[in-house]
Amino acid sequence: MLVSAKEMLEKAKAGKYAVGQFNINNLEWTKAALLTAQECNSPIILGVSEGAGKYMTGFKTVAAMVKAMIEELGITVPVALHLDHGTYEGCYKCIEAGFSSIMFDGSHYPIDENVAKTKELVEVCAKKGMSLEAEVGSIGGEEDGVIGKGECADPNECKQIADLGVTMLAAGIGNIHGKYPENWEGLSFETLDAIQKLTGDMPLVLHGGTGIPEDMIKKAISLGVAKINVNTECQLSFADATRKYIEAGKDLSGKGFDPRKLLAPGTEAIKATIKEKMELFGSVGKA
Ligand code: 13P
Repeated sequence: MLVSAKEMLEKAKAGKYAVGQFNINNLEWTKAALLTAQECNSPIILGVSEGAGKYMTGFKTVAAMVKAMIEELGITVPVALHLDHGTYEGCYKCIEAGFSSIMFDGSHYPIDENVAKTKELVEVCAKKGMSLEAEVGSIGGEEDGVIGKGECADPNECKQIADLGVTMLAAGIGNIHGKYPENWEGLSFETLDAIQKLTGDMPLVLHGGTGIPEDMIKKAISLGVAKINVNTECQLSFADATRKYIEAGKDLSGKGFDPRKLLAPGTEAIKATIKEKMELFGSVGKA
């Protein structure tokens, strides 16, 4: 069922586990994510970047597809449909399209403007029963055209935004979108600890979930992270499985070129990656 992310994240924070946000790109991605969540009896957040929304022809198409798929596949676990790194305008488009959750990424604005815009969206989302994620400090690397410098968040600014009544807060703690470079210094647990001390029960969000070592994931959860975003890792799994299928010449034998066959190994690979992450995050059986 389509729900806001509020209850699932509050439960996760209290239960010391995290709910995965898996970004979707098309029908296969969405189907793989929903089926895996159901199989694992886990709550799930489907992330949609503005670029992916455009690729899928618009947020209305995405919302209609997700809602219909939940019904047709008989998905009973909690599912949140969430805008990832939304612009101010993108947030309103998703509210109108029927998303159940949005992220307003105001991290590139001066803090006062981030506060003002976030505050306005908190009120709109409250009226609609939607959840809202805000961001302070920036996530390094690039997420579908959104480029961040990767500076650590200021814990006092985090508190300022958390006090506005947002559902969850993404704070830069040295995390990066995409693959981590060899010389990455790791997550700043000092920053995370300081943020959690000031923001209390607020579920914290860890972006850039791809490639973070397991022990760091577990430590982040122990310090208040209740939502972890994964995008690149599913893309890599999909690409790898698809390449193997083609390199083995399977598309050339019989009806192996049928898109339902051609895309099947990649879809199964996405499912396996999501399952692995749900196990690591501790959300299996928590629906
Ligand atoms: P990765 O692509 O590094 O997994 O990051 C995903 C993300 O944070 C989406 O907002």
